[in-house]
Amino acid sequence: MPYCVRPMRNEDVGQVTEIDQEAFPTMWPPANYERELGTKLAHYIVAHEVKNPGGGKASETNRGQYIIGFAGFWMMASEAHITNIAVRKSHRRRGIGEMLLISMIDLALKLGGHLVTLEVRASNTAAQGLYRKYGLNQLHIRRGYYTDNKENALVLANQDIASPAFQQRLEWLKEAHARRWR
Ligand SMILES: CC(C)(COP(=O)(O)OP(=O)(O)OC[C@H]1O[C@@H](n2cnc3c(N)ncnc32)[C@H](O)[C@@H]1OP(=O)(O)O)[C@@H](O)C(=O)NCCC(=O)NCCS
Repeated sequence: MPYCVRPMRNEDVGQVTEIDQEAFPTMWPPANYERELGTKLAHYIVAHEVKNPGGGKASETNRGQYIIGFAGFWMMASEAHITNIAVRKSHRRRGIGEMLLISMIDLALKLGGHLVTLEVRASNTAAQGLYRKYGLNQLHIRRGYYTDNKENALVLANQDIASPAFQQRLEWLKEAHARRWR
């Protein structure tokens, strides 16, 4: 696989902020990822390019990795609330958003999560497509939630991610996703 996911580190904050600003240019105040990394409840990951696919651990320890996407959630009791997910425009539609979402669900499961929730702009059909593929469905609407343009937010949640039915669906999706790079 030409891309890899790992926990976000302080040295990634510059590139992550660049991706955030490209993806969410109207967000004010801008996200502060240094502060997020210092928050106990927060779990952030990045996807980066792997120059030597199959090279194993060496690529994991390389410095100067090119970050192509990131995502994060806050773990509160058994709820993983996704705060953000973004992929560089130049790298979209290659399965990287999906790779990040799979990694977050796996991590949330390890942390004892059952529920995944998030808000998404009503106009953001790309993100909604990704979430729906992974079983996140609309719970309700928060009217005028986004302060920049008063757009509505759809609140999405899934069924229990630890349930056998969800696990089966997830395995199937992971398998289909992995086939993209074989
Ligand atoms: C949402 C986002 C992270 C998706 O990342 P991506 O790497 O392009 O997505 P993937 O290639 O992994 O696509 C996975 C699925 O998402 C859906 N999807 C992604 N982009 C889509 C688009 N432009 N239109 C419709 N569906 C789309 C599809 O269901 C796709 O599955 P498929 O490949 O079987 O069709 C990316 O568009 C992005 O960074 N957007 C800006 C930031 C943002 O809006 N984040 C969400 C905040 S709530």
